[in-house]
Amino acid sequence: MAAPRGEFSSRFGFLMAAAGSAVGLGNIWGFPTNAASNGGAAFLFTYLILAFALAYPALMAELIIGRHARANAVTALKSISPGPRSKMAAVAVGFAGIITVSFILSFYAIVSGWMIAFFFDPLARLLGLDGVASWLTTDAVLRNSIFVVVFMVMTVTIINAGVKDGIEKWASRLMPSLILILVLLILYVFTLPGAMDGLRAYLVPDFSRIADPLLLVDAMGQAFFSLSLGVGTMLVYGSYISKKENLPVIGSLVALLDVGIAVLAGLLILPAMYVALASGVEIFDAQGGLIAGPGLIVSVLPALFNTMGSVGLLVALAFFLLMTIASLTSSISMLEVPVAYGVENLGVERSRASITVGAVITAISLLIVFNFDPWFDRVVTTTTEISQPLLGFAFCIFVAWVWQRNGILEEIKQGDPDAESSLFFKIWPFYVKFVCPLAILVVYFQ
Ligand code: PFF
Repeated sequence: MAAPRGEFSSRFGFLMAAAGSAVGLGNIWGFPTNAASNGGAAFLFTYLILAFALAYPALMAELIIGRHARANAVTALKSISPGPRSKMAAVAVGFAGIITVSFILSFYAIVSGWMIAFFFDPLARLLGLDGVASWLTTDAVLRNSIFVVVFMVMTVTIINAGVKDGIEKWASRLMPSLILILVLLILYVFTLPGAMDGLRAYLVPDFSRIADPLLLVDAMGQAFFSLSLGVGTMLVYGSYISKKENLPVIGSLVALLDVGIAVLAGLLILPAMYVALASGVEIFDAQGGLIAGPGLIVSVLPALFNTMGSVGLLVALAFFLLMTIASLTSSISMLEVPVAYGVENLGVERSRASITVGAVITAISLLIVFNFDPWFDRVVTTTTEISQPLLGFAFCIFVAWVWQRNGILEEIKQGDPDAESSLFFKIWPFYVKFVCPLAILVVYFQ
C-alpha cells in the first residue's frame, strides 16, 4: 500500500515553505540590480503591479490544481483533463515541468555551492588558514564539484525527511532566520558612507522608463522566476495544503512575502554596492550598467567585505549564510517535484526516490561544472527563458480552458464557503483565461 501523503501541519508552515521556494538567489541578486538599472522605484512599481496582476493569478492556478488533485504535477494535470487528448497533453506538460525543474536545480546547485564555499572563507581566515581561504574563493572545477555535492546532500537530506519533518520544519526555522539576518545587515550597511547614494539609485523613480517594453519584460520574467512558477513546485506544495485553508488569501500572502523580501534585499544590495563604490570597488560593467548576477555576489560584495577589516569577516559570514538559506529553501521545493512523482506514480519509497533523483541531478550538475562555459548559460537560458514561461502558459490554459469552472469553484469553496461572491472569483477566472496567457506569450516573443 502506498504511504499516506504528507500535509503541512499549519498555515505558518506552508507559508514559510512556499515563501522559501519563492525567495531565492533570484530575489537577492536579480531583483535589486534589475530595479536600479531600470528606473529605480519605477521598476518597483511596475514589478508590484505585474506580480499581483500576472504572477499571482498564475500562482493561484498551480495552488488550486495541486490542492484539488492532492497529487504530483503529472497526476494532478491529468485529473483535471476530461478527454484522452487533454490527458496526453497533461502528461506531456507534467513531465516537461519535472525535467525543467530538475535542470533548474542542476544549475542552482552550482551557484548555491559557491555560496557555501564563500561562507567558509571568513571562517578559514578567522582560523588563520589563508591558503584554504583562497582555495575556497578561487573558481575551480574541484572546488565547484565538492560544493555541488555538499549542497545536494543537504537538499536530499531535508526532502528525505518528508513534508512535515523535512520541508516544513526546515523552512520554518530557516526563513525567519533569513529575514532576521537580512534586516541586521541592512541596518549595518545603512551606517556606512555611500549607503544613501545606493538608496537613492534604488528608490528615486525615473518614470520615463515605465513604458519601456524591456522594463516590462524584465519585470515579468523576474516575477515568474521569483514565484517559482511553471514547473510544478507551487502545484506540489499546494497539494500538501489543508482543505480548510482559504487559498486566495494564502496565495496572496506568499506573493507578498516574496515581493517584500525582494524589496528588502534591494535595501541591502544597492546601498552595499554604493558603499563598495565609495571604497574604490568597481560596481559598473563595461556597458555602464550595475554588475549583476554571480559577479555581484562573488566579486563586488566580497571586495567590499575585504575593505571592512575584522567586521567584514562577520558581515561576510552573515551574508553568505543568508544566501545559502535562500538557496536551500528553494532547492528543496525543486527536488520535491520529481520526488513526489517517483513516490506516488512509481511506488518508490521516499528515501530511495530522493537519493536517486538527487544523485541524477548531482551528476548533471557535475557535467555542467566540467563543461561550464558552453553549458551553464545554455541550461539557464533554456530553462528560465524558454521552458518556464511556456509551461506557465500551459498551466493557465489547463486551469482556465481545460478544467471546468465549477470544479475550480468547488475547490476554492472548501476553505472559503463564500468564494463565489468574492472579489477574487470575479476577477481571477478572466485573468487566467485571457490576460495571463496573452501576457506570457507577449513577453516570450519579446
Ligand atoms: N524562486 C527562486 C528564486 O527566486 O531564486 C527560483 C526557483 C525556485 C525557480 C523553484 C523555480 C523553482 F521551481
